Amino acid sequence: MSRLRALIGPSILNADLSQLYEESQKLLSNGADYLHLDVMDGHFVPNLTFGHPLVKCLRSKIKEAFFETHMMVQNPEQWIVPMANASVNQYTFHIEPVSNVADICRKIKENGMKVGLAIKPGTPVETVERYVDLSDMILIMTVEPGFGGQKFMEDQMTKVKYLREHYPLLDIEVDGGVGPSTINCCARAGANMIVSGTAVIGASDQAATIKLLRSTVQQVIDDH
Ligand code: DX5
Ligand code: ZN
Repeated sequence: MSRLRALIGPSILNADLSQLYEESQKLLSNGADYLHLDVMDGHFVPNLTFGHPLVKCLRSKIKEAFFETHMMVQNPEQWIVPMANASVNQYTFHIEPVSNVADICRKIKENGMKVGLAIKPGTPVETVERYVDLSDMILIMTVEPGFGGQKFMEDQMTKVKYLREHYPLLDIEVDGGVGPSTINCCARAGANMIVSGTAVIGASDQAATIKLLRSTVQQVIDDH
């Protein structure tokens, strides 16, 4: 029996951010397994969102949920302690702009968080593979990071397949353009942690959409 679990983490990027708490609560009560919080600094990506002050406020109202921060930032080391102080559970950062990946992984763990390593579509999977043992999860981006609502890049599935073949129990996350029309592709390739933004936020039945995403992924896991 595999210990892998299908987990759905909606991205709140395209939610009504003036009502972030209500939107987050709604996602959780509709069955979200975790919240994927997109932090952008305007340097690593051409967009700006929010940082640790907002995450800390959200945490003060939502005590139990698993928070993953997706750090699309130039200097991920800088925000480890502030995000740990905001009681973030998993700190996922891009390896492209940093030279000391191992040090950053260590520091994240020392601060009590899980480590996620993310790569952009143009980054070869081997670049992140050498750090697999230092991480809890690998995120294969399926759009160029920066904006919600972009088209899913199916060619990224070769990276997911490669990782799944070599690491049967690794948590592998996909993010970008994932929804009911692309989930089969992600599930078959071997992703088990699914970020979905606009497809879940904009769904007429959020609970049914989250359930469909999870059951599609879990079915593939159970069949193996
Ligand atoms: C993109 C973000 C994603 C995005 C997902 O840079 O990292 O998390 O918000 O949104 P959708 O599912 O709409 O692509
Ligand atoms: Zn993201």
